[in-house]
Formats: sequence, C-alpha cells, structure tokens
Amino acid sequence: MDNKDFINVPINEPARQQYFMDRCHEYVEEYISSNGKAPTFYVSTFGCQMNARDSEKLTGILEKIGYCEAEKEEDADFVIFNTCTVRENANQKLYGHLGSLKKKKETKKDMLIGICGCMMQQPDIVDHIRESYRFVDLVFGTFNFYKLAELLYTRISGNEKQVIEVLKAPEVNVENLPERKKFNFKSGVNIMYGCNNFCTYCIVPYVRGRERSRTPEDIIEEVKKLSREGFVEIMLLGQNVNSYGVNFLEESEIIKNNPDYSFPDLLEDICQIEGIRRVRFMTPHPKDLSDKLIDVIARNPKVARHIHLPVQSGSTKILKAMNRRYTKEDYLALVDRIKAKLPDASLTTDIMVGFPGETEEDLQDTIDVVRKVGYDQAFTFIYSIRTGTPAAEMEQVPADVVNDRFSRLLDVVREVSAKSSARFEGQTKEVLVECMNDHMDGYVTGRMDNNILVHFPGDEKLIGSFVNVKLDEAHGFYYMGTMA
Ligand code: 5AD
Ligand code: SF4
Repeated sequence: MDNKDFINVPINEPARQQYFMDRCHEYVEEYISSNGKAPTFYVSTFGCQMNARDSEKLTGILEKIGYCEAEKEEDADFVIFNTCTVRENANQKLYGHLGSLKKKKETKKDMLIGICGCMMQQPDIVDHIRESYRFVDLVFGTFNFYKLAELLYTRISGNEKQVIEVLKAPEVNVENLPERKKFNFKSGVNIMYGCNNFCTYCIVPYVRGRERSRTPEDIIEEVKKLSREGFVEIMLLGQNVNSYGVNFLEESEIIKNNPDYSFPDLLEDICQIEGIRRVRFMTPHPKDLSDKLIDVIARNPKVARHIHLPVQSGSTKILKAMNRRYTKEDYLALVDRIKAKLPDASLTTDIMVGFPGETEEDLQDTIDVVRKVGYDQAFTFIYSIRTGTPAAEMEQVPADVVNDRFSRLLDVVREVSAKSSARFEGQTKEVLVECMNDHMDGYVTGRMDNNILVHFPGDEKLIGSFVNVKLDEAHGFYYMGTMA
C-alpha cells in the first residue's frame, strides 16, 4: 500500500472494510475493462453450520467487491477454502484440493487462492502452508475473516506474494458486513461464538476461542430484519447454546433489567417475532439443557420439534475422560424429561467411537443408549487425534479394533434410526420446501419441523413456502410423500 492510501484508511470497523471493498472494486473494474467480464470466485466450505454462516459473509464481501460466483471450484479466478479441523480427514481434504489447484494456477496467471477457517488457527499448519504451498495467496483465521477485503487488497496492491494474518484471539466483533445467504427463506443467526467446555478430544475451543455472546437486542434486531426480508425459518447458532449469556460482547439494557436472562428467554423472545414461523437451534450441550428450556419449547409451537443432543459416548467412564460432565444416567434421564414434555420431538445425536481407553463394555453402553433413546438420526465418527488436546496424550485404541466397533455401532444406528424415523408414516405434516430434488425430475425436497426430509411431486413455485404433505413411505431418514 502507498502512503497516500494509508492516510485515508478508516480505523473503525466496519467502515475500514467498506473502504477496502471500494479499493478492491476498483481492481475489479480494471479487470473487467481488460478481460470483458467480471472475475469469478468460489467459496468451498468444510465443516459445521458456523463455517457455513461465515462463508455467507465471505460471499457477500466478494459480491460487493464485484466478483461473480463460479459454478465450479476449478473455473474460479479466486478460490477460498473455509476449512474445518475437527477431525484429521477434514485437514486431508484441504491438501487434496490444494494439490489439484496448484496445476491450475500454473496455467492461469491471475488466479488467487485463499484459505481461512479453523485449520488456519493452528500455527504448525500455517507454517506448513508457508513452506510447502507457496502458491497460496491469502491465509487468515476464524477471528479476522471479516477482513477479507483488506487482506485481498494487500495481496493485489503490494509485493507480498503470500499474505498471512492469523490472530490468536478475537480483537473486535464485526457484524453488519455484506452477506449473501444460501436460501432466501431460512437463515442461521449466530447467537454466540467460541466454546469454554474443553471436551478433551475437541480442538474447537482452541481455534474458535472463548465464549462470546451477542446481546439479545442485536440478535432480535437481526431476526426482525430477516423477517421483514421474507425469511420464515431461523436457526440460532452456537457451539453450546445453553451457555448463551456468559460473556456479552456489548452492553445490553435487556440484561441490565434481567441479569438471569438466558437461552430459553432468548428463544421465547425470538418466537414472538412476527413473520418467523419456525425456530431451530444448534447445538445444546446435555450437561446444561434446563427444564426451563424444555418448557419454553413445549409452549412455543414455532420451535421445531427437533433436538440435536450430542451424546458422544454412552459410557460414564468415557464421558468422564472426555470431560463431558454428565453420566449415562444423567443423559437418559434428560431424554426421558424431553420425551415426557415433547412426545413428538425428533432426537438426533453425535457419537464418537475409539476414544482413548474405550473398551468393548464401553461400546456396549453406547449401543445401549442408542437403543434406549431411539434416535431418528445419529452422526457417527471415529475418534481423531487432535494435537494439543488432552486426549491426544492418552493411550490410543488400535485402529483395527476401532474400525470393527465403528461398523457394529453403525449397524445398530441404522436399524434404530430407520425404525424410529418411520413412526410418522401415514401422517400429514407441514413441510418447508427447500429446493428442487436433485435426483427426481418434477419433485421437490422439504423439511419437517423435526428435521426429517420429505420428497414429493411439486414445482419451483413451492420453494420457500410451507405445504402440508402426506408421508406415504418412510426410507430411513427421509420420506416420499404427496401434497395433502
Ligand atoms: N474426533 C472425532 N470426532 C470429533 N468430534 C469432535 N472432535 C472430534 C474428534 N477429535 C465430533 C463430535 C462433535 C462433532 C461435531 O464432531 O461428535 O459433536
Ligand atoms: Fe468441542 Fe465440547 Fe465445545 Fe462441542 S462443547 S465445541 S465438543 S469442546
């Protein structure tokens, strides 16, 4: 950057990023006048809903700058990987993509590659990119992804071939930047960032930092705005929504007047917003899912009848080693309380196999929980060592033993979830239509409030609307239906 540029740069956000979006826009204009078309981008997103939400913001910034979205990664002039590092295979996926883009970049001189997200919060990985992937143009992390325009401008206006900026902790919280949503009828809304739980296997607290909650005012305002824009379904997002309110990013009148304000209060306030017809949340931690929350769900029909309640293991011994802070019995008692007040709710979970010290008996406890709860869906994972977490130092279970346990657990999960999710067969349910079906011409795909998918004959006009659908036939975690 020249000195003259520095003089005009605003210090405060989001004005500063606005400034850099304008500067980058000038670059795009030049590109258009010499190439006759706008440069294209592709944001490749790995991992969870948080990353998906961050990618909507990255996409918004790029479109504001003047980039157009490419259909495929390999066609784009600027590819950004928003990475996940929760398991090692997520890391390997990134290296696979980078390998194939390297050749592409050799033949395409203006191409840019950026990497951001959770994986970049690990210093050894950034060192590896710096040394072995010198063709990567931008590297940034989870705490400064809002600075995309500034970092891009530094790259294209200066002499640095590789611009790396990763912060160890958040400096400012910047909302209100452009964003482009994937759907125009449903949206995620961040209610908090970070995690303080330190489950011993998990890298998230290290790469997403300590818990920070947005004020109720800020969240309510965002949801009201979404409602005015025609959004009908909201998903409240946080690593552990039950600890919402621990540490607020800004002062809040609502909190001043009610210091005990917590997640159930927020959920209830969101349900009051006119125009919003369905409210979801992700993810509650079983250790602190309160009866108050169950009651709020029960008395607010807008709250989707779906609770994703990650169990991780059914063995009290393993749960203790994982620092989950509940026992097998606590978890089952919680499930009973939920079922008593929300009999039609769909319960789903995450389960991990092969955590250090796990024995056959521990696996049997997990299988027992799966059968007793009767999940509608369970995401099963093989434990993956994350360097720097306490579990990485514990004695590991041999891979062949883990693989065998994993496939046995999967068999049970498939059997249980097929049976459980089929219980709605023959009923008529309200479905929010999401998209045309990829595989069957003339069919649309929608989602019930319990999160189960339904495919049925319909056309594009239905997308974004609620329709009543008769659930004709259950097929595992989806139904084939017909409009009622
Ligand atoms: N290995 C395997 N699975 C993991 N998860 C989190 N950390 C690990 C790990 N080290 C799983 C948990 C969590 C989900 C998002 O990812 O089941 O709920
Ligand atoms: Fe990871 Fe546990 Fe926090 Fe979830 S609650 S993000 S599993 S540390």
